[in-house]
Amino acid sequence: MCGIIGYIGNKNATNIVVEGLKRLEYRGYDSWGIALKNGEIKLIKEVGKISKFSGGQDLEKSNMAIGHTRWATHGGVTKENSHPHTSCDGKIAVVHNGIIENFKELKKELETNHKFKSETDTEVIPHLIEENINLGFEEAVKKAVSRIKGRYAILVMNADSNKLIAIRRGSPLIVGINNDEKFIASDIPAFLNHTKEVMYLDDNEMVVIDCELKFFNLKDGSKINKRRITIDWDASQAEKGDHPYFVIKEIMEQKDTIARAVNQKDKEIIKIANEINKAYGTFFTGCGTAGKVCRIGEYIFSKVANKHINFTVSSEFPNYQHFLTNKTLMIAISQSGETADVMEAVEVAKKKGVKIISLVNVMGSSLQRASDHAFMINAGPEKAVASTKVTTAQIAIITLLAYATAGKLKEGKQLLMNTASQVNDMLNPRYEQHVMKLAEKIKDSNNIYILGRSLNYPLAQEAAIKIMELSYIHAQGFAGGEMKHGPLALIEKNSPVITLVGNDESKEEIISNTMEAKSRGAYIIGISPENNDIFNYWIKVPDAGNASPIVNLIPIQILAYHLAILRGCDPDYCRNLSKSVTVK
Ligand code: G6P
Repeated sequence: MCGIIGYIGNKNATNIVVEGLKRLEYRGYDSWGIALKNGEIKLIKEVGKISKFSGGQDLEKSNMAIGHTRWATHGGVTKENSHPHTSCDGKIAVVHNGIIENFKELKKELETNHKFKSETDTEVIPHLIEENINLGFEEAVKKAVSRIKGRYAILVMNADSNKLIAIRRGSPLIVGINNDEKFIASDIPAFLNHTKEVMYLDDNEMVVIDCELKFFNLKDGSKINKRRITIDWDASQAEKGDHPYFVIKEIMEQKDTIARAVNQKDKEIIKIANEINKAYGTFFTGCGTAGKVCRIGEYIFSKVANKHINFTVSSEFPNYQHFLTNKTLMIAISQSGETADVMEAVEVAKKKGVKIISLVNVMGSSLQRASDHAFMINAGPEKAVASTKVTTAQIAIITLLAYATAGKLKEGKQLLMNTASQVNDMLNPRYEQHVMKLAEKIKDSNNIYILGRSLNYPLAQEAAIKIMELSYIHAQGFAGGEMKHGPLALIEKNSPVITLVGNDESKEEIISNTMEAKSRGAYIIGISPENNDIFNYWIKVPDAGNASPIVNLIPIQILAYHLAILRGCDPDYCRNLSKSVTVK
């Protein structure tokens, strides 16, 4: 949610920042802007996507620049509201990710002698810094942040200084180092083609960047020695390669991401399985697609390990804090490890002494660092807003954990390695074409309904998210048994109904529920290991037993992608959505 990048070094900072913003576009794409320093500060701002901007080479050169790609919160999508925002004298430029909760009071106070140009919460920051600039740049920034409330990441440039200053309080910021060149960004892919050497900022920390790096704790002003970490992502993993869009590249990467996710250390899996067996109450939490993975996990744990694990969507988790004790366990699932609602749920749980286990894809993310144990998903960078490869990898790890909790780790591993190879076989051009043909048939539908039972019920909900966010067709996932309690009223002649069938005890019942829709005229799409007379269109999936949510999700992802393409939607950047949601 909003991407930030800054650079100081002997290369052309303007180009590096424009390039970095293009790589951060998945975090926000309403508008973008950069501030470059050549004596004075110059601003370039545009409404729209930075990927559509081709003029990077013509921009003025500089050795220091900051940039921002916006996902609007306060103030409409306009040039004036796009970042960077500046002080009255134009000497202080700020980019910001997050929300300044007390900006109204601050703006009211500052308006007596500062002129505001935008409707944003951000603009109070450069004016607050300007108020105290006579104390020196660092002191003025510290004073300003002592006045602001909320969760945020801020990056500041000053026309009278050769330093950049950044502060983290709840939103991610990572420093990249390549000898004398210094980078700072909301996410590693922004500078991955320049360096793999990074340092993570923690909450309530400030970094002063010039040829050196100085880290401070904002609570007591003390200096911090940071560890340098070499990350193992490859720059090419964060590029589209031969694919037209990130999302299809990431769908295809599932040929090996599932196997990679399953490749966890047995010792660690068993240790966490023992913790789950010992805990009095375990909660799954996550948002969006990760939340649906948690719900699939609920079913898998119940079925495989005889364990009831509660799921609460993270934004609602604080309401359950009364049930938490120091014997409770939380399993938090998040691709980015930065989602504000997840982090708040974790904070609330930690205050009650709850142990935090997480499944996270981004190394060094807030969630990883806040956890007692983090399972790395190891799927490599996921850039498309709609999660695909990370979802199946998360389902795989949760399934593995359920088997380990039941004392059947070996069996679970065998199942998932088989599933990984089945997925590898599915992802071939012929299969894609078969799904594409279906997309052509249903592309003009206004509604798509998805049915599932047991493990495939939460998967039906994930399927609905995928179709909605990629194609903007209204889609809803139901428990098959619920059709007769309401949703059947929506079925008309040719309404597309996708039925997700697993080869388990729910098989016959889901077919009966599908029949209820067919009798009312629905066009039935069966995603199933076996064909059935009631299917108008059959998409074959392998029989993956308890891993059926993984194989059933593959054709749904391909379908959602082709629906998006056929309907002229950009499948990488879902309208109004952002990949990493760092506001509550
Ligand atoms: C956003 C994204 C979703 C994602 C959700 C949770 O809404 O668009 O794709 O599932 O955030 O993100 P996380 O990084 O916590 O998995």
